[in-house]
Amino acid sequence: MQKVYEIAQLQALREKMQGSVGFVPTMGALHAGHLSLIRRAREENDHVIVSIFVNPTQFLEGEDFESYPRKEEADSEICRRAGIDLLFFPHAEALYEKDELRILAPAIRGYILEGEKRPGHFDGVLQVVMKLFNLTRPTRAYFGKKDAQQLALISQMVRNYFLPTEIVACEIVRDEKGLALSSRNAYLSDEEKQRALALSRALRLASERIGAGERDARKIEAVMEEALSETDKIDYAVAVRRDFQAIDEIEIGNTILLVAAWVGKTRLIDNLWL
Ligand code: PAF
Repeated sequence: MQKVYEIAQLQALREKMQGSVGFVPTMGALHAGHLSLIRRAREENDHVIVSIFVNPTQFLEGEDFESYPRKEEADSEICRRAGIDLLFFPHAEALYEKDELRILAPAIRGYILEGEKRPGHFDGVLQVVMKLFNLTRPTRAYFGKKDAQQLALISQMVRNYFLPTEIVACEIVRDEKGLALSSRNAYLSDEEKQRALALSRALRLASERIGAGERDARKIEAVMEEALSETDKIDYAVAVRRDFQAIDEIEIGNTILLVAAWVGKTRLIDNLWL
């Protein structure tokens, strides 16, 4: 595995790659969820590039940019063991200049749910992903379904800008109790981890109700809200179409249940694709 910090080094090594390139963009603090993306990229491509960059433009004022876990040594070791070819650790100064040309998230889909709670967040995500795609020129790029709205917007960016990259959606990885893996779980105390299980429980209870025949989206949302009462604050508990349009009726095969809630000072998200 080669590890590079400079854009020119990355480009020189990318130039030499023949065949397909799988790319896994991350913000580091790698866990089994990231590893599942890396393994899939390894299986499906001739070369694998992973980037680790805590992207400042997708954090809002007052969010956890400064405290976001940074584990360069441990992450490098995980990538080396996973057999990737190239690990890219860019510096913010090299990726960004002042007063940049911006790609903006779409006015509606980029500003509901996560985008409503974190206005501008997706502008920053699309900005950095476009840069990373242009630098790594991947055949396939791997994203977790846990960030379902991010996945939808990146897929839309690829479509709208005719980018020659296939977006591969990968399943959510959970711990043995059902908590969806996230780098932010590191902020949770043991007691908070216990209460954080309310998110996956809400999704499970909702899917059981749907399994029993309930199709009314408002009733399913009420089931999820009730299950989330153990958390400290609910940001949303909704059923939407896979393209993030609002729905009244659950449609199996085209619905996502999404929850976001606070446990202590940590904001958690989870979802279930039906
Ligand atoms: O999902 C993430 O970790 C980040 O949003 C991404 C896609 C690496 C962009 O910074």
